[in-house]
Amino acid sequence: MAVAQFTREYTTVRRAEGWGSSDGAYYRALPFRDLTGRFPGIWRIRSRSYMTLVDRVLEPLEAHSRQMAVIDLGAGCGWLSNRLTLRGHSVMAIDLLMDRFDGLGARRHYDVDIAALVAEYDRLPLPDDQADLVVFNASLHYSTDFAKTLREALRVLRARGTLVILDSPMYVDPTSGQRMVQERQARFLATYGFASDALPSEHFLTPARLDELASELGLAWHTHTPALDWRTRLGRTIGGLRARREPARFPVIVGKRR
Ligand SMILES: C[S@@+](CC[C@H](N)C(=O)[O-])C[C@H]1O[C@@H](n2cnc3c(N)ncnc32)[C@H](O)[C@@H]1O
Repeated sequence: MAVAQFTREYTTVRRAEGWGSSDGAYYRALPFRDLTGRFPGIWRIRSRSYMTLVDRVLEPLEAHSRQMAVIDLGAGCGWLSNRLTLRGHSVMAIDLLMDRFDGLGARRHYDVDIAALVAEYDRLPLPDDQADLVVFNASLHYSTDFAKTLREALRVLRARGTLVILDSPMYVDPTSGQRMVQERQARFLATYGFASDALPSEHFLTPARLDELASELGLAWHTHTPALDWRTRLGRTIGGLRARREPARFPVIVGKRR
């Protein structure tokens, strides 16, 4: 029930905010250009994260394996699945949403076929040990229990596989993260009449939480910081000053079994 409420409210908010497009070119241009012009700042950050993933993670792995089995968890419209398929990988996109604008239904816009499953990432309908790479793309922070979610991802990951967390907000000080969550819920309540908190998500990461997860799950993390352009850096500083809290960072976090 809570998941149904989450997807209903999530879809309402995303539609109202203007995510998605009826033009297929929009999806094919992601993450490098936002052809709707609605969220250029967000896609500037996202394209930097993606390029960091390519340079620091994909290219070194591709040097050993040209075709990897990849699972894109919380794939949404599947832009990352599209990019990885175009690089020659065999990708499975998984999400709660089948929505044609903002969920797996948007796969119809790509020039490649992408396998997809509507499923919760805490309960993957997949056998063990099958992926070389599992990526949470702007999706891990919706998890209600990072340890449980990551354990399930590790179940489907091969022993020497790689886990990546992309574009989930990270704060050094957890009180900054808690304030971000309160601001967001107040904004949603004022605009839509609901706080969009049907699922008790963890919402953000901290270095301390990552350390805890590393010991609990037997992982070693390696963190890459995407280089941001001056507009994004300025925007972050001004946003942080206005909100009187630390602005979120979006490192590319790579996990391997120890
Ligand atoms: C902010 S969107 C990111 C979508 C896409 N990866 C992107 O980067 O544009 C987060 C996605 O995570 C999905 N999601 C959240 N919780 C999930 C869960 N428990 N299982 C599977 N998908 C989930 C949502 O449905 C949504 O599509």
